[in-house]
Amino acid sequence: MRVSLKVKLTGLISLLVLLVVLATSAVYFVILVKETLREFERRGDYFLEETSRLVQAVAQATRLPAGTNPEDMDTIGRLVQAQLSDDPSLRSEMQTAVAFVPSIAYIAVTDPQGNILAHQPQPNPKHPGEALPHAQPLRELVDARLDRQFRVIYGQPQVFEIFEQLNMRGRPLCTVCVGTSTVFLNYLITLRLESALKLAAVVVLIATIVAAFLSAFVLRPLETISREVDRMARGELAQPVKLNRTDEWGILSSKLNLDQLFSNLADGLLLFDSQDRLALATPAVSRFLGRPTEELVHRSADELFSDAGPLERRLREAFHSRESVVWQTLELPAEAEPRRVTVGVQFVREQEHSVVTLVTLRDASTRAQLQDQLDVTAKLAALGRLTSGVAHEVKQPLQSMFNQLGILKDKLGPQGEEVKPELQTLSSEIRRLDRVVKTFLDFARPVELRPIETDLENLVREVFTLAEPHARRNNVRLVLEPNGALPPVRLDRDLMKQALLNLVLNGCQAMPRGGQLKVSPRLLSRAMEVEIADQGVGIPPEARPKIFSLYFTTKPNGTGVGLAMAYRIIQLHNGSIDFSSEVDRGTTFRLSLPL
Ligand SMILES: Nc1ncnc2c1ncn2[C@@H]1O[C@H](COP(=O)(O)OP(=O)(O)OP(=O)(O)O)[C@@H](O)[C@H]1O
Ligand SMILES: [Mg+2]
Repeated sequence: MRVSLKVKLTGLISLLVLLVVLATSAVYFVILVKETLREFERRGDYFLEETSRLVQAVAQATRLPAGTNPEDMDTIGRLVQAQLSDDPSLRSEMQTAVAFVPSIAYIAVTDPQGNILAHQPQPNPKHPGEALPHAQPLRELVDARLDRQFRVIYGQPQVFEIFEQLNMRGRPLCTVCVGTSTVFLNYLITLRLESALKLAAVVVLIATIVAAFLSAFVLRPLETISREVDRMARGELAQPVKLNRTDEWGILSSKLNLDQLFSNLADGLLLFDSQDRLALATPAVSRFLGRPTEELVHRSADELFSDAGPLERRLREAFHSRESVVWQTLELPAEAEPRRVTVGVQFVREQEHSVVTLVTLRDASTRAQLQDQLDVTAKLAALGRLTSGVAHEVKQPLQSMFNQLGILKDKLGPQGEEVKPELQTLSSEIRRLDRVVKTFLDFARPVELRPIETDLENLVREVFTLAEPHARRNNVRLVLEPNGALPPVRLDRDLMKQALLNLVLNGCQAMPRGGQLKVSPRLLSRAMEVEIADQGVGIPPEARPKIFSLYFTTKPNGTGVGLAMAYRIIQLHNGSIDFSSEVDRGTTFRLSLPL
């Protein structure tokens, strides 16, 4: 059974109070025993004194019969003793004391030999003339050690007494004894102790109630935090944890505000408990698994990864084999977004038992693309600065070479006929060089984008119109196949048209024996994608890394500018371009334009 923290805290405080109460009760008990004994002794002393005073008064008032020798102390003593056994005022005084003072068990007056002269209560237990049984002095018990006092009080009933011997003209006349029974001592102490224990019980009860309130008050923030953690565990990470405090609770709750952290996390994180149930998932997970995070939480790994896709299959395998996966990149089907996912699965174990499992999903395609784009952008920028400077420098000497060639031709006149072919070659090469430098300068010049809302389908149709003569010549069918309705996209219409035209023309040129060139635009979650697929000769593996390079061409009349330009235009739109190609089967270019 799980005992809540609140119950534990209440129990602990009550236990502490109980211990304090028990300790004080023990001290109280010791003081109580001592005080009660002293009280008995004081009362006994009082009645001893009172009785002795009366005895002396009776002795003085005893009338001696005529002829009694005043020096005969034996006779006088006997007469006084006889008077003491009969004196009504002494008897009534002793009766009153015994009747109204419960701590007094008896009061007795004995002769010097210990035989009873007067005894209260009467007639029991003793009669005049009998010997008064011996009792221990009360002082001995008052001065005894605590353990003996306890043993006596709680043991067999006993009588303790205080006594005083009275003399008459220097000779012992009688002894006054006041007896105290341990029965009443025990009764009185138990009575007082009972009321003290009742008070202690009330104190403990009040302490328990106060402790319960106190722990509820102190632990209230904990309950709030616990509720918030449950909410987070359900995947509801959007709202921040609300706890307006500056103490330790406040600090703890602010640490729970994982939503800001998670919402900025591009990687998808899934945390499974020891039963393989999803305890926590970051918002990015929905991108990878195609379902909202709230739907995923609390489901088992088997349920979550039941689909037939490569990602689900791999995760299922990992959960069944319990073997960690260290960053494995998987290719997902064409319609998936992202296309490539890097997976990490970690089984955190404690004494051979799986405690938690952490699955990390990383968008490999976007990462790779971003890295490539960053690399290329940096290289292009550096190269652009360098080459446009060089091109400028080359252009002028070229122009002057061209002019000089004209002058040379004029000067040679008819004699020049002999070297005419060479001069022709020279001038055409200079012109070609000039053209190259010109396109290069065009290419390297900074371009300012003028984006407008553009209907992509229309744009593709316009591109088809321009490419139509070329396509017809090669017996190529141009097909537009949009996937669903497309919203307008902000683009620089002219530049994008140029880029698409370059790609479509390349496709047509790659199909000398005819075929189909299909352009399929479609909408993804955060981008517009356009595929341009041909059924042409394909790109041989060795040419693949070079096709986007400026001036790379495999065509006799090609300039090698088309793809480099398309690449640059897509880049200016913050988009990306990649391709897949199979020799003799065809090539597919894929443009992705962010929305
Ligand atoms: N769809 C395609 N199928 C096969 N190869 C292609 C395709 N697109 C481009 N290529 C290859 O890439 C090279 C570069 O293409 P790019 O468009 O940059 O220049 P080009 O077409 O040769 O000349 P131009 O400047 O006239 O376009 C091509 O020469 C060709 O080898
Ligand atoms: Mg081309």
